[in-house]
Amino acid sequence: MKLRNDSLLANVEGPPTELIFGDWYPALRSDLLRKGKTTTSLLLGVPLLLGRKNDGRIFAMRDLCPHRGIPLSAGWFDGEHVQCKYHGWKFEPCGGQCAEIPSLTQFDTLQAGKIFAGAYPCVEQDGYAWVYVPKPGENRAPASLPPVPELPKFGPRFTAAHLQADLPCNVDHGIIGLMDPAHGPFVHRAWWWRSAASIHEKTKHFEPIPEGFRMSPHTPSSNSAPYKLIGKPETTIDFSLPNRRFETVVARKNGEITHWFASLTTVTPVTASTCRIDVIAAWSMLTWLPIVRPVAMWFGKRFVRQDQETMMEQAEGLRFRPAMMLIDDADKPAKWYFALKQRRLSGEGEHPLPGPVELHWRS
Ligand code: FES
Ligand SMILES: [Fe+2]
Repeated sequence: MKLRNDSLLANVEGPPTELIFGDWYPALRSDLLRKGKTTTSLLLGVPLLLGRKNDGRIFAMRDLCPHRGIPLSAGWFDGEHVQCKYHGWKFEPCGGQCAEIPSLTQFDTLQAGKIFAGAYPCVEQDGYAWVYVPKPGENRAPASLPPVPELPKFGPRFTAAHLQADLPCNVDHGIIGLMDPAHGPFVHRAWWWRSAASIHEKTKHFEPIPEGFRMSPHTPSSNSAPYKLIGKPETTIDFSLPNRRFETVVARKNGEITHWFASLTTVTPVTASTCRIDVIAAWSMLTWLPIVRPVAMWFGKRFVRQDQETMMEQAEGLRFRPAMMLIDDADKPAKWYFALKQRRLSGEGEHPLPGPVELHWRS
């Protein structure tokens, strides 16, 4: 389900930011990739040609012919090879190897198989086509790549849903908006959720995890009515670079898991100055009741749209490049994010959390 308002998104775009290459990002929903068909997408400013071969494997090529740079998407795909429209070079799309150069004769010594178009590792996971976007010049063996992010599931029976929204700001604003506790009572006010008057002081415990931080297991806010339906659950929220927020809510009785909810929210750079939010969610409750999914989608969509509309308005302001403030403690997670990102980009520095810490804010 895609949320966008093109008239608003068309004219606004905030300042760019530096991007983290060399990691996995969700390019698009994998059910959009049909056998023998291709589609295009932009990821970190890289134009991609994505498709599915006749054998079911999905692929992501750089959408530029290595011969003269015309987009490969202008050409043809027969389920086996991508053929360039300009001079008909053919490529095997999973590895990018050139299979044929039609203009060659017996007098030529050029070996087509030594030419490669850009092809990126591409894996189907949780309904998304995840693409590994390498650093410039990077050439890693597939076995040495980091694992593809996966939504945790705590049992075989669950309902799953996806949401997506384009954001007209750079990925940093998308991410710090995602982890920002103080906007909840204002941006997400609704009679069924919470009001500005429901603000109260909270204490949260955080601990470092590799390339990120964890909000230690806690019972959800007493002012979040829907959580009351599933009993005394325990929530854990992880953020890890480059862009991933995992939230799991697990309810236990006598140590056994009775109900669970899990979500993975990613904010993915489309370009250096725009991004897209994707939510993958799964839950174990009421899987037999068909109405639950559309109702959950309605609430989820509304929630994401509130963030999207706020960030569109923010992008209007960011065009004027205002100075920015991050305050303690509510913006502390945002400070950690920027420190972790800097550490990843420079390859040096300490983890911003020396150990477990306690933060206080009102939300
Ligand atoms: S530009 Fe693609 S084959 Fe020449
Ligand atoms: Fe939000």
